[in-house]
Amino acid sequence: MTTATIIDGKQFATRLRASIAAQVARLQAEHELTPGLAVVLVGEDPASQVYVRNKGLQAREAGMRSFEQRLPATTTQAELLARIAELNQDPAVNGILVQLPLPARIDPEAVIEAIAVSKDVDGFHPLNAGLLAVGGAAMVPCTPLGCLMLLKDRIGSLAGQRALVLGRSNIVGKPMAALLLREHCTVTIAHSRTRDLAEECRRADILVAAVGKPHMVQGDWIKPGATVIDVGINRVPTPDGKGRLVGDVDFAAAVQVAGAITPVPGGVGPMTIACLLLNTLTAACRQQGLPVPEVGPAVL
Ligand code: GUN
Repeated sequence: MTTATIIDGKQFATRLRASIAAQVARLQAEHELTPGLAVVLVGEDPASQVYVRNKGLQAREAGMRSFEQRLPATTTQAELLARIAELNQDPAVNGILVQLPLPARIDPEAVIEAIAVSKDVDGFHPLNAGLLAVGGAAMVPCTPLGCLMLLKDRIGSLAGQRALVLGRSNIVGKPMAALLLREHCTVTIAHSRTRDLAEECRRADILVAAVGKPHMVQGDWIKPGATVIDVGINRVPTPDGKGRLVGDVDFAAAVQVAGAITPVPGGVGPMTIACLLLNTLTAACRQQGLPVPEVGPAVL
């Protein structure tokens, strides 16, 4: 039996970040423009703290300015909105990201809608979601953008492929489906109420799993030779108490059937921050009326 090609997202992301850093250096040299990314964290959720630290570190490594805003868990919605209004006005800030989840008292939709559309590097603002849906110049959510890059790197043209997106979140599933449709795939969105889920998956040439359920996708749900993109990052308990990260796909079984598959960790995960940096670079160029540089594989 042949085993699948492992799609190395870690290596791809490293190359993408280097390519972004080169463009940042060029912008600095030619236009004295240094892209700036503001990351806002409310509260002390440990996982969010790690993400926010990594976003700041990688932005600086790419030569960008990083503005990390750590607000106490007691911050009110009005205070957060006021902070966002300041960042919207600040010309040194080209991209704004408010780390989710927010404390329960704060309405995430109100916060997302307060971010200037042109600085919304998460691509979560309803106007950006709409622009993506109608094929306009949207900021595209980072994780689906990273998935698309890995797919295009592996497959080339996606036209005519049957793609199944498992999960319908605003952060991954819906924008992923919109991107695949834009690439001329025949797209199905499956979710918790889908009938005959295994059968739907088995038809897919491209399977993107983004449901947050460890090992939900079984080996025999996968069409032989399919390309499998596993967005899940689930911590499962281990006897030593440390836990380990697994995806939404049963990797050990899937690797025997798929043509190519992303591992967890080291697949989609590293692409997300790389694409955040790419969106920040894109936002900075658009705000200055400069052409958006080609970075990595052309996907948009
Ligand atoms: N929390 C988990 N993933 C994300 C993301 O992509 N963006 C933001 N803002 N918060 C998150």
